[in-house]
Amino acid sequence: MTDVSGREAFASPPAPRRFPEPLRTPRLIIRRYTLSDAPALFGAVNRSRTSLLEFMPWARSSHLIIEDTEEWIARERARWLAQDTELGFGMFRRDGAYVGGIGVHAIDWTVPRFELGYWLDDPSVGRGYMQEAVRAMTRACFDRCRASRVEIRCDSRNTRSARVARACGYTLDGTLRAHARGTDGSICDTMIWGMTAADADAARSAWDAADDALVA
Ligand SMILES: CC(C)(COP(=O)(O)OP(=O)(O)OC[C@H]1O[C@@H](n2cnc3c(N)ncnc32)[C@H](O)[C@@H]1OP(=O)(O)O)[C@@H](O)C(=O)NCCC(=O)NCCS
Repeated sequence: MTDVSGREAFASPPAPRRFPEPLRTPRLIIRRYTLSDAPALFGAVNRSRTSLLEFMPWARSSHLIIEDTEEWIARERARWLAQDTELGFGMFRRDGAYVGGIGVHAIDWTVPRFELGYWLDDPSVGRGYMQEAVRAMTRACFDRCRASRVEIRCDSRNTRSARVARACGYTLDGTLRAHARGTDGSICDTMIWGMTAADADAARSAWDAADDALVA
């Protein structure tokens, strides 16, 4: 029986409240961090700190010494066990090299709704790794977690991040004016890129083609 309010959806089994991990893409493995990843993560943040500081506020005060990184990983592992609303994953090439981080934020299982955030180690920029990871994470949100919506938020000046969202099929739903403070202290606008389940269905053949091109 169809309920015009859409409430009949609540009668179906709830989404599994656990984000899938690890995820495999043609070139990458996306997985939880372990303590043995600390040197690679610490090295990447410190090598890329100048680039990260443009848009990532955490880059100013995080991972200053390796013990910070070890503590951060321990906290991330505890968040995973608690299935917190913020989960961080590492992106590794198939040969094990660390390329960057991708996180699922503001998780709301009651919708379900997810937000993705990401960064790359400098030497891994410009190779399509982030689009590959975002495609996989977006698929996981919709296919494994029954997402209603996935979002990517970025500073409106962050053209590289916006390009990743657009290339993966996200739509610019709106720009929140004077919404945040940039890492330089200036007031800035926040772009909200969104994808619905219907958008994801429309994007699937493009995702498959992009992934196929990586293994061809
Ligand atoms: C945002 C960020 C992750 C984007 O990195 P990126 O390398 O531009 O994104 P991708 O890994 O998807 O790579 C796309 C680039 O690789 C190139 N590329 C090479 N091979 C490719 C392939 N097989 N598929 C797709 N793109 C490919 C593309 O041409 C594109 O380069 P261009 O933009 O110069 O044309 C990176 O700039 C970053 O870490 N910035 C700092 C942190 C940050 O701002 N995070 C976002 C906060 S909201």
